[in-house]
Amino acid sequence: MTDAPGDAGPSPDESPVGHDPDGSPAPGRTGAGDGANRPGRPAPRGAAGRVAEIQRLTRPTLLLAAAFSVAAPISAVAPHDTGAWLPLHLFLVGGLLLAISGATQFFAVTWATAPAPPAAWTAAQRWTLAAGAAGLAVARELDAGSAVIGIAGAAVMAALVILGALLVRIGRGAVAKRFEPSLHHYLAALGAGLAGCALGVVMAGDDAGAEILRWRDAHMTLNLLGLVGLVIAGTLPFFVATEARMKMATGATPGRIDLGLVPLAAGVVIGAAGFATEHPLVGAVGLATYGVGLVALVAILPTPRAKQWRWAGSRLVHLAAGLAWWIGAVGAAAARAATGREPFTIEVLLALVVGAYAQILVGSLGYLGPVLRGGGHVRLTAGFTTTRSWLGLAAANGAAGAFALGASTAGAVLLAVWVADSVARAGVLLAPAIDHDGPGAA
Ligand code: HEM
Repeated sequence: MTDAPGDAGPSPDESPVGHDPDGSPAPGRTGAGDGANRPGRPAPRGAAGRVAEIQRLTRPTLLLAAAFSVAAPISAVAPHDTGAWLPLHLFLVGGLLLAISGATQFFAVTWATAPAPPAAWTAAQRWTLAAGAAGLAVARELDAGSAVIGIAGAAVMAALVILGALLVRIGRGAVAKRFEPSLHHYLAALGAGLAGCALGVVMAGDDAGAEILRWRDAHMTLNLLGLVGLVIAGTLPFFVATEARMKMATGATPGRIDLGLVPLAAGVVIGAAGFATEHPLVGAVGLATYGVGLVALVAILPTPRAKQWRWAGSRLVHLAAGLAWWIGAVGAAAARAATGREPFTIEVLLALVVGAYAQILVGSLGYLGPVLRGGGHVRLTAGFTTTRSWLGLAAANGAAGAFALGASTAGAVLLAVWVADSVARAGVLLAPAIDHDGPGAA
């Protein structure tokens, strides 16, 4: 049976585009159109069964991502020797990169109307990344030496290369061209991630000495702002519209989305080069350029109306608040670098990782979870109710605020509340289906 997320209750929009004919989430059309998707034309149809297939492939990847994301804060309070590194890398390399792996393929297939990638390769990518992330954590924690860390790091990098190849393949099979700018963002992100992870492997080696701090800032710029940030930036113009069940902004034409990549990618390259060559002012210019790119991104996002905020609730607020933390953290890092200080202090880092990225992840999974669970209209609507959490939203932003102010104990308590709330809701979502819908309901 094809899951049918397409009718998740009444749409807040008078003329919704909301979901594509296969029942997958589909962004509203840009008023400008793009040839293949001009307003008024029926959306192009892709290979039969592609949506059910990509949903099937995405589920285990997101479940693994969720497992790493829960393991991360647990590892922070468990006895360990690598400080903040361990929880940060469990979340960033395990949780976030797995979520990115699953979500980018899912979006590309559904939004570009393309055939699903080969299941064996998707599985290979998923497990290579998971093994690399877990291997890195264990190897560094046990001080296993350069060779073992090198193998684990190479696994992470191989997973990025496989993901890139899968996305190129999906793009080549696409019927709709509207999603091409997002694919460009994804490939640029993976390029930055490869460079960033290579620096990580060098830094983690036995011979790394005082050089480490210099590579550290470049490593963070490439991985956090490049790998993770560019993927999010390429997705939001579509995803905000989908999550709010409204049309894309008229300004979000393929050309403008592509143009938006320029300041973001340039900012990453200039920032990383500046930090790597110990020119903090150049690094600051890079971060400021990236900040300009983020503001430009906000300008091409749709503006939800009251009924859309009401329908999407906390999920949409998570995205908006995440964006605000993202801009704030990049601004703070740029200002610090410009005045010769360390750009990514633990306060700035946690504002970015908890306030921006974890929050955007939870806001996104709150939509994708019920959609991927499937099971008919009633179950889908119930799923959306389950993932609407004002407590989680308050705890998330409270935690990010406390961390940003250096109140780490308060931050940790609030983070624990958020994680517990999210885990409980995920448990409800994953509970075995009861036949709510009755025969033929879906
Ligand atoms: C092959 C994969 C990776 C390796 C081997 C690696 C290794 C490292 C090392 C050795 C450090 C410096 C730790 C120290 O100062 O003692 C570091 C720091 C950091 N890395 Fe990675 N990393 C990898 C991937 C990533 C990715 C993908 C991200 C983000 C998406 C990331 C984010 C960070 C952050 C935020 C820091 C600063 C926090 C800290 O030092 O603990 N890393 N990484």
